Amino acid sequence: MIFAVDTNRCTSCGLCARNCPQQALHMEQVPIIDERRCMRCQHCLAICPTGAISIMGHTPENCLPLKGHFPDPKSMETLIRGRRSIRRFIRKNVAPDELNYLLSVAAHAPTASNRRGLHLTILDDMNSMNAFREELYRRLSLPEIQTRLESNPRKELFATAPILWKEHGTDRLLHNAPHCIIVSNHRESGYNLPVDPVIFLTTFELMAQTCGIGTLWCGILYSCLEFVLPELRDELGIPKTHVPQYAMLFGYPDITYPRSVQHDPYPRLSLHPNWGIN
Ligand SMILES: Cc1cc2nc3c(=O)[nH]c(=O)nc-3n(C[C@H](O)[C@H](O)[C@H](O)COP(=O)(O)O)c2cc1C
Repeated sequence: MIFAVDTNRCTSCGLCARNCPQQALHMEQVPIIDERRCMRCQHCLAICPTGAISIMGHTPENCLPLKGHFPDPKSMETLIRGRRSIRRFIRKNVAPDELNYLLSVAAHAPTASNRRGLHLTILDDMNSMNAFREELYRRLSLPEIQTRLESNPRKELFATAPILWKEHGTDRLLHNAPHCIIVSNHRESGYNLPVDPVIFLTTFELMAQTCGIGTLWCGILYSCLEFVLPELRDELGIPKTHVPQYAMLFGYPDITYPRSVQHDPYPRLSLHPNWGIN
């Protein structure tokens, strides 16, 4: 792994070593790395006040400058409160450049231990999404698949959806979305297995809104892949090393919401300041 220190810029302040979450750096004249401990989080690159550190080929010059550039709380509030589930989409592909940009930003979502073991299955072309939709409904309508649904809480929906699709072209499961993304995590992620994909999709969703792209969390599709049609995982190219953890539909929205909704804060309990002190 490449770890380079520009000795003309390094002031030996030691901030990088003090803030390394893995204690992979120690200070001599300049920071020295123990690669075996490094989890490649790039904290050292991000924190250096003089931009002296490059790591894994990433230079300070190519980082995003942060000072004074964060959205203000009101902008974030508008984004978070203005985000809505979209169930009506324009039947048009999201421009590949826009999707690539969105994915490149969402790739900055954190993962436990910086494992970054996600696998993304993206139906980024309407034709492949349409083929997938047809196949999903075809399989769901098969009698042998319906018997798998006996104890499924969504039994009714899974039973009626293929009929609605066939007879009326009503897409109750995938809402005629032009695209979907299925996020799988590496089997060895332990108790973080479902968490990293959900963080990724949350980031993807918020960023998507700012790009004019609407999203819908799709528990139904996840449930299909997990409980009803797990054989689809292989066919979608999900590696056997990975487990699909959630799915999201997306596309340009065919609807706009002029205002937010209003949710009450969750109940909470603040512990007494002396809690735990005997
Ligand atoms: C984890 C999760 C799974 C969801 N799955 C579905 C789904 O399969 N189909 C659907 O129509 N909506 C689904 N939704 C959307 C919720 O129904 C939606 O969040 C709710 O209607 C509130 O609307 P809002 O997202 O605009 O605030 C899901 C939402 C979440 C957070």
